[in-house]
Amino acid sequence: MSDERWLVLVTRRLPQPAMDRIGERCEVTLYEGEDAMPRDRLLAEVAGKAGAVTLLTDRVDDEFLDAAGPQLVIVANVAVGFDNIDLPALTRRGVMASNTPEVLTETTADTTWALLMAAARRIPEGDRFLRTGKPWIWGPMMMLGQDIHGRTLGIVGFGRIGHALARRAKCFGMRIIYYDVYRPSPELEQELGVEFRELDDLLQEADFVSMHTNLTEETRHLVNAERLRKMKPTAVLVNTSRGPVIDEAALAEALREGQIFSAGLDVFEKEPEVHPGLLELENVVIIPHLGSATVDTRTAMGLLAADNLIAALEGARPPTLLNPETWEQGS
Ligand code: DGY
Repeated sequence: MSDERWLVLVTRRLPQPAMDRIGERCEVTLYEGEDAMPRDRLLAEVAGKAGAVTLLTDRVDDEFLDAAGPQLVIVANVAVGFDNIDLPALTRRGVMASNTPEVLTETTADTTWALLMAAARRIPEGDRFLRTGKPWIWGPMMMLGQDIHGRTLGIVGFGRIGHALARRAKCFGMRIIYYDVYRPSPELEQELGVEFRELDDLLQEADFVSMHTNLTEETRHLVNAERLRKMKPTAVLVNTSRGPVIDEAALAEALREGQIFSAGLDVFEKEPEVHPGLLELENVVIIPHLGSATVDTRTAMGLLAADNLIAALEGARPPTLLNPETWEQGS
């Protein structure tokens, strides 16, 4: 281990253990704002750095790489999703990129489950109602929701978080179907008790649809007006992946028209904006991208990003490297 201290940029304060781990080996330039680091500051501050610890709110593209300069070794993103990073651009320049998979899987599945239950059983709506102070009395037809047990869950994008959701759903006595372009092994399908369906068949059959795809050009607006029309009028749609995988205007319309029962959303198409049509509706539960937002998980994500950063700067392979080509070129 060398005692060199590298210049790095950290674009937002991370949980203290992660800041400490980075600070042990690096001279840190830290943006202390509560908002995303303004673009002009980001470009100015990344200049001359050997490493950058970025967030999903920072766009890492050719402009960023030009501003950084050729000494940049790694961009360590604190998220499993990396649609904010132009990975081919980094790879072309031999700059490593890493993300933070696995450490957030269970927490994000918990958040998904919470949204699913809240949207099915109208929990936030009931809470809002009581706070109005309006008189009420128990009634046999009051605020009826949808059962979860015994119903069919359709998981779109069957990676780690999809698997973790399937495990939860199994405990609730649900039938589980999934769609993905990659199929897991028959053994894993059997262990999780899941069956494959084509996407349009899944949308027609599922009582609950939960989105877990990466955001790519292929998955942008994967759920659009036409696909929403295929869903059951009693269906609940949940999204804890990335906002643009659902056409938000079409979803607001479908919810208003009662084409589907309700939705639970952690992410938004033009984040941090929420489509105004959604804000007016009772049958949508919205939370501000909290999928991985627990003390332990955000700490684990920060520590993994720190490990990726320091490994790359020391000349070792980062544990969760996204573009192994850069490692193969360099080694
Ligand atoms: C991710 O990691 O991609 C989430 O969206 C933030 O935890």
